[in-house]
Amino acid sequence: MVPRHVAVIMDGNGRWAKKRLLPRSAGHRAGMKRMISLSEHIFDCGVEFCTLYALSTENLKRPQEELDGLFELFREYFIKNTQTLKKKGITLRIIGNLQLLPEDVREIIQKGEEETKGGTRGTLVLAIAYGARQEILSAVNRAIREGKEVSEESFSSLLSTEGIPDPDLLIRTGKEIRLSNFLLWQSAYTELYFTDKLFPDFTDKEFDKALKSYTERERRFGKVENKG
Ligand code: IPE
Ligand code: IPE
Ligand code: MG
Repeated sequence: MVPRHVAVIMDGNGRWAKKRLLPRSAGHRAGMKRMISLSEHIFDCGVEFCTLYALSTENLKRPQEELDGLFELFREYFIKNTQTLKKKGITLRIIGNLQLLPEDVREIIQKGEEETKGGTRGTLVLAIAYGARQEILSAVNRAIREGKEVSEESFSSLLSTEGIPDPDLLIRTGKEIRLSNFLLWQSAYTELYFTDKLFPDFTDKEFDKALKSYTERERRFGKVENKG
């Protein structure tokens, strides 16, 4: 079965550039180009929700020059792609702490979300200035403030991913085998797939391999067998 929700940790842009003796910014640009084509391919495969990890809260500690380059890419991405996404019926949703971004970038992003509302083909969730621990803490603090005891369901609805099903498949490119503060609550029963491919080299064909691996797995959710 096609996973309903696929999440991707897009890692390895810097190393891709280094291998070519290019600046890291060239790797991020190549990564953005790949991200645009890959997200189209993912929706073409029948996936309804696609979450892409573009920037972590921890990444904000990188040198200002690299961050400025990334912010410029975000500006470009949203300005160029919002209308295309809208035409394709893809709703944009952002998770993360947008307060940590420059004001104009935040505004462009919010406009993108606003303009693509109500798309019927799928939802593209971009994790920008996102950190799962910070997300969980902010939900906990909200529950405390409201004097609420929470259940799994009600807690999920306090997270930034409210209304989005948990990821079925989580892919990380770029060799590292870790989650780096991504969707820690939501990925409790997600199938994980790690590949050595650096993100700009993670082709549609490579994605299809991950999809094939997913379809061959048996998801038991702690039970003994799966007859479904
Ligand atoms: C992922 O690529 C993109 C971001 C984190 C913004 P990296 O920039 O982490 O690339 P590597 O891991 O240094 O190769
Ligand atoms: C994870 O990659 C974050 C994104 C891809 C956006 P990092 O490159 O920041 O992760 P670490 O530092 O290797 O754990
Ligand atoms: Mg990295």
